[in-house]
Amino acid sequence: MTRILLHGAGRMARRVARQTRTCNEFELLGLVARSEPANVQEHDYYAALDEIDRPVDLLIDFTLPGGTRVAAQWCGRKGVALLSGTTGLSVEDTHALELAASKVPVLWAPNMSHGVALMTRLVRQVARDFGAGAKIKIRDIHHKHKVDAPSGTALTLGEEVKAGLAEPPTADLEFASVREGELVSEHTVSFTAADEVVEITHKALNRDVFARGALKAGAWLVNQRPGYYTTSDWLKSA
Ligand SMILES: NC(=O)c1ccc[n+]([C@@H]2O[C@H](COP(=O)([O-])OP(=O)(O)OC[C@H]3O[C@@H](n4cnc5c(N)ncnc54)[C@H](OP(=O)(O)O)[C@@H]3O)[C@@H](O)[C@H]2O)c1
Repeated sequence: MTRILLHGAGRMARRVARQTRTCNEFELLGLVARSEPANVQEHDYYAALDEIDRPVDLLIDFTLPGGTRVAAQWCGRKGVALLSGTTGLSVEDTHALELAASKVPVLWAPNMSHGVALMTRLVRQVARDFGAGAKIKIRDIHHKHKVDAPSGTALTLGEEVKAGLAEPPTADLEFASVREGELVSEHTVSFTAADEVVEITHKALNRDVFARGALKAGAWLVNQRPGYYTTSDWLKSA
């Protein structure tokens, strides 16, 4: 059984907590959050990681930038595997993850859904075979509470487009972000050539898709050597 601690108590962390109840391979030790969440009676609550004195196999971090850095430092010190889905990270946050990855397995992914992992592969292929000379647009639509724009997933899709383009990239790449209502997440990459358009879209219908992905990836991660992993590493070997 994998002993999991959740860092954060927001929309995503609560989804992950709920999902742990549906499978008996995980034991949820509790939530770590700066402010006490509602319904805390369902789970143990800790105000800071330094309060934890129980053995932990995996820390799942869905916080905001700054939180991830604290998580990385704690996991490195305590020898705990770290899976983070937090987006909008600074260079310093990413550096902290890399530093932790020299001591423990670390997986960071801006999107834990299987569909988006597949989309990133398809996007690279379309960029390679169709992208040169095309106008390429990456659009992300999210709920109004999301703080970072473009989304972490949109930026990763952009990296895949650049990787797929012929050298040197001749395409015109543009990002657009919409923040409105309560829509979970939608990403579209469109390649507009002179006479035709290729579009790839992924829509997350609810947050369970990310929560389930995080738990599956986490179950894989705890059995890996120290290192910095992506969802592609997980899906390749899962
Ligand atoms: N990878 C994926 O698949 C995926 C999917 C959806 C969302 N996300 C990302 O996951 C993150 C969380 O999203 P969400 O919707 O759950 O956000 P949210 O509802 O705003 O929750 C954020 C949580 O992080 C805590 N937090 C913020 N700063 C912190 C810090 N410095 N130290 C410790 N805790 C801190 C907040 O606690 P306080 O009350 O104390 O501020 C809150 O509990 C975002 O970056 C979002 O973009 C990723």
